[in-house]
Amino acid sequence: MDPVKSDGDSKKCNKPKYSKFTQQELPACKPLLTPGIVIAAFSLIGVIFVPIGLASLSASREVVELVGRYDVSCVPDDDKVQFIQNSQSDKKCTITLNAPKYMKSPIHVYYQVSGFYQNHRRYVKSRSDKQLRYKSAVHLTKDCEPEDNAANGAPIVPCGLVAWSMFNDTYVVLVNSNAIEVNKKDIAWKSDKNHKFGKDIYPSNFQKGRLIGGAKLNESIPLSEQEDLIVWMRTAALPTFRKLYGRIEKDIMANDNITVVIQNNYNTYSFGGSKALVLSTTSWIGGKNNFIGIAYLTIGGLCLFLAMAFMVIYMLKTRTLGDPSYLSWNRDK
Ligand SMILES: *[C@@H]1O[C@H](CO)[C@@H](O)[C@H](O)[C@H]1NC(C)=O
Repeated sequence: MDPVKSDGDSKKCNKPKYSKFTQQELPACKPLLTPGIVIAAFSLIGVIFVPIGLASLSASREVVELVGRYDVSCVPDDDKVQFIQNSQSDKKCTITLNAPKYMKSPIHVYYQVSGFYQNHRRYVKSRSDKQLRYKSAVHLTKDCEPEDNAANGAPIVPCGLVAWSMFNDTYVVLVNSNAIEVNKKDIAWKSDKNHKFGKDIYPSNFQKGRLIGGAKLNESIPLSEQEDLIVWMRTAALPTFRKLYGRIEKDIMANDNITVVIQNNYNTYSFGGSKALVLSTTSWIGGKNNFIGIAYLTIGGLCLFLAMAFMVIYMLKTRTLGDPSYLSWNRDK
């Protein structure tokens, strides 16, 4: 039975069912913004934000970050591209850095590349996530062109330009001329290792073509353990990016001499990019970044300033709230 027509009155059919919501009768609260409440609210925000800003800024200042750009000093001035493309040339190169302060372990080692658009649409899509994850999807290389199949038709694993262009410079770090270990374990996200890269998928036909794009992979290690690849394949959103290379698990003292022996393999020269090595400690806010501290300080400071300004205005020109004599038509009389 139709419940609407049941009472027989057709006019009643259009009447919506009564509810407080449709009748706009829900309880509501309209705060009265008295000077006291406004000043208190601004002061409260200021009092909360300024200390957070100061704490973040001081944490960021505690972080010791050393950046050593090496792409210019590691190649001869003339014909950089030819030098880097020639497999016979000696790519070994050393740079020295000086620790200005005590650096507490773990010290993160990053490579920083500039001018590399990992976010380019056709680059970003040149991969097969199914192939990286499922053994049965090894032939799904459609999106990977031109790095899809080897000359004999067998699929390239991992296929696509992202994997193909993997970074291949290597670093050996010496502190006061003693080599120290750079731990390359656990540099990739756990979720990537467990859910995006298969434990039973091994590289094959990779980097075997006419043109070598970057690093080679050990074919006896499954993709889920190839952490350098996993880090590289989490593509960067901006053309200047840092990626984790490893961690040093030893403190470095102030004024220690850090020498890094670099194998300068990766070709950033043909597209005018640059490369740098970054050593950085961390604090509770992560690496060195003043932005969040400055943002909190700005907002907090602005709120405190407004609270003060309102207070001064309120004290100099007090008037009672809701006084009808202030209404223009009353004032004109
Ligand atoms: C490193 O990558 C470059 C391309 O950027 C390539 O030409 C070179 O052969 C690679 N070298 C090694 C040792 O993998």
